[in-house]
Amino acid sequence: MGIVVLTMKASVIEMFLVLLATGIDSNKDMNKKIKRPKFTVPQINCDVKAGKIINPEFVVKCPAGCQDPKYHVYGTDIYASYSSVCGAAVHSGVLDNSGGKILVRKVAGQSGYKGSYSNGVQSLSLPRWRESFVVSEGKPQKGVTYPSALTYSSAKSPAAKTGEATTAYQKPPVPGTTAQPVTLMQVTGATTTEATATSLPKPSPSAGSTTSSLGPQPVGHRSWELDLGSTSSYASGHHSPRANPGFVPKEELSTQSLEPVSQGDPNCKVDLSFLIDGSSSIGKRRFRIQKQFLADVAQALDIGPGGPLMGVVQYGDNPAAQFNLRTHMNSRDLKTAIEKITQRGGLSNAGRAISYMTKNFFSKANGNRGAAPNVAVVIVDGWPTDKVEEASRFARESGINIFFITVEGATENEKQYVTEPNFSNKAVCRTNGFYSLNVQSWFSLHKTVQPLLKRICDTDRLACSKTCWNSADIGFVIDGSSSVGTGNFRTVLQFVANISKEFEISETDTRIGAVQYTYEQRLEFGFEDHSTKADILNAIKRVGYWSGGTSTGAAINYALEQLFKKSKPNKRKLMILITDGRSYDDVRIPAMVAHHKGVITYAIGVAWAAQDELEVIATHPANHHSFFVDEFDNLHKFVPKVIQNICTEFNSQPRN
Ligand SMILES: *[C@@H]1O[C@H](CO)[C@@H](O)[C@H](O)[C@H]1NC(C)=O
Ligand SMILES: *[C@@H]1O[C@H](CO)[C@@H](O)[C@H](O)[C@H]1NC(C)=O
Repeated sequence: MGIVVLTMKASVIEMFLVLLATGIDSNKDMNKKIKRPKFTVPQINCDVKAGKIINPEFVVKCPAGCQDPKYHVYGTDIYASYSSVCGAAVHSGVLDNSGGKILVRKVAGQSGYKGSYSNGVQSLSLPRWRESFVVSEGKPQKGVTYPSALTYSSAKSPAAKTGEATTAYQKPPVPGTTAQPVTLMQVTGATTTEATATSLPKPSPSAGSTTSSLGPQPVGHRSWELDLGSTSSYASGHHSPRANPGFVPKEELSTQSLEPVSQGDPNCKVDLSFLIDGSSSIGKRRFRIQKQFLADVAQALDIGPGGPLMGVVQYGDNPAAQFNLRTHMNSRDLKTAIEKITQRGGLSNAGRAISYMTKNFFSKANGNRGAAPNVAVVIVDGWPTDKVEEASRFARESGINIFFITVEGATENEKQYVTEPNFSNKAVCRTNGFYSLNVQSWFSLHKTVQPLLKRICDTDRLACSKTCWNSADIGFVIDGSSSVGTGNFRTVLQFVANISKEFEISETDTRIGAVQYTYEQRLEFGFEDHSTKADILNAIKRVGYWSGGTSTGAAINYALEQLFKKSKPNKRKLMILITDGRSYDDVRIPAMVAHHKGVITYAIGVAWAAQDELEVIATHPANHHSFFVDEFDNLHKFVPKVIQNICTEFNSQPRN
């Protein structure tokens, strides 16, 4: 009976929302009809440079927060079009940090721009630029028609308004995380699904008996309570950013939240995915043991929206999600759902399952919270029938911490059948045992619950998916000018090799590239040319000394073009430039471009190198990214320091 009521309730909510939706839509139409067509002011982000916009004169709306020094501004009153439009508006006093409309007019390029400090913005000097602009208050002048959409110089969709420079290090979009407005369809859809799902559980005689909230109840009533429990936990899950609580009638939800449901253990806030082996070879009995293990885990973890959440993927020939992170948001419902999992059969394609999980499981729509580490536990009976190394690496690169539990692994006689020897060591991040567990027999699997949970909940140690060592594309830019000399050039190469050695090198881990420059530049090897440490060290050894002038600025441009353009979006881009003298050409603008493209630049100067130039080349703060060594023989002393700074910076960045 309770089931019927609940289903009814869901459809009432649905109807309500549909009505609401129709109401909103017709409202919109009415507004359209009443309002006269009006000039709409296009909007831009703080980092949009004037040079990106082709229109000679336009009114735009700036967001709040453009006072930030990261939006560089060049000049005073008249600004080089390499400047942030909105930053310049703040500098000139037309706008304050809360944003607003401004009028922008392009003017001719100047032979020099002077930096100054004004209205909380430090603008910079620039020798000469091809185009400038001035800003004034955003009042359209009479008789002038302003564009209601801007034309950008690169053929980009309006969504890419932020400009070229930033796109290089933006995260690739994850399905379900795009900032689309929550539609009513999503809300009603989810409600219906959830209601259907919760209407399925049969009243389990043991479930709920341990809760002290209510005394003995008739069985029929108990089943009602069960349904309430899961519905209210779903309601609390609605605080996720995806769902818009504004659309959900509050009263409806609160009347359903009769029984208190655990918020979950806050000391173990992880988004957890179990990949379970459903292959034919595992057999019914062991499959049951595996399910019991999952249920034990669900019981031992205090599941809830403020603590761990757990979903399950079963794999055989192909993987399939049994339920995602938001399907069952308390331990009790989770256990009931685990009980109902049926075996798929087929092969034991764990690698395929890991790829599937990486692509689909941890999406926002599936309940991924973002603020909780992603953890995947792969349970394997014996050994997988496909390869797991690449799939696991990709998962780790995507920020998923992978654990492997191997049960009844191959015996000596069986080793010949194993598709990928040492698969579990290859799949996990480090072979120090933290991420892999080996269980002798299915009958002792239950003893693994506590050791496993201890590791999963040790969230400080779950930093393995991406480390300082496995996540960079490092491009060395090496000065091969005559002043260096053959002997010292060898020392520089040793320095390059000594730094490279520290990193985990492979196609999917850290990659190394190198450029040598004099007046000219040449690519010694690119990121894709070598994929093992031995190959890289050999390639470094083989770099021949060139000898010539010193055009460091051109070399930086060349490295951006030839090396970093081929960098992967999910890699940290590090440029390590080593020079022994002052550049013949300008380094300021190439360095600026590098910084804007998200290339973290380290400048290492030896002997005659100019410290002020090193600081210009280096990423801000310069004292962290530039080093000066009086002579080549002392270069080796800086290897640990450079590495340390690279890793300190990595560790200070927010991570998954
Ligand atoms: C597998 O690992 C063992 C010990 O960790 C090692 O001795 C062996 O060489 C490895 N085999 C392969 C094929 O990598
Ligand atoms: C590189 O490492 C080797 C071995 O540790 C050391 O002898 C050498 O001095 C180092 N050279 C440089 C330039 O870092």
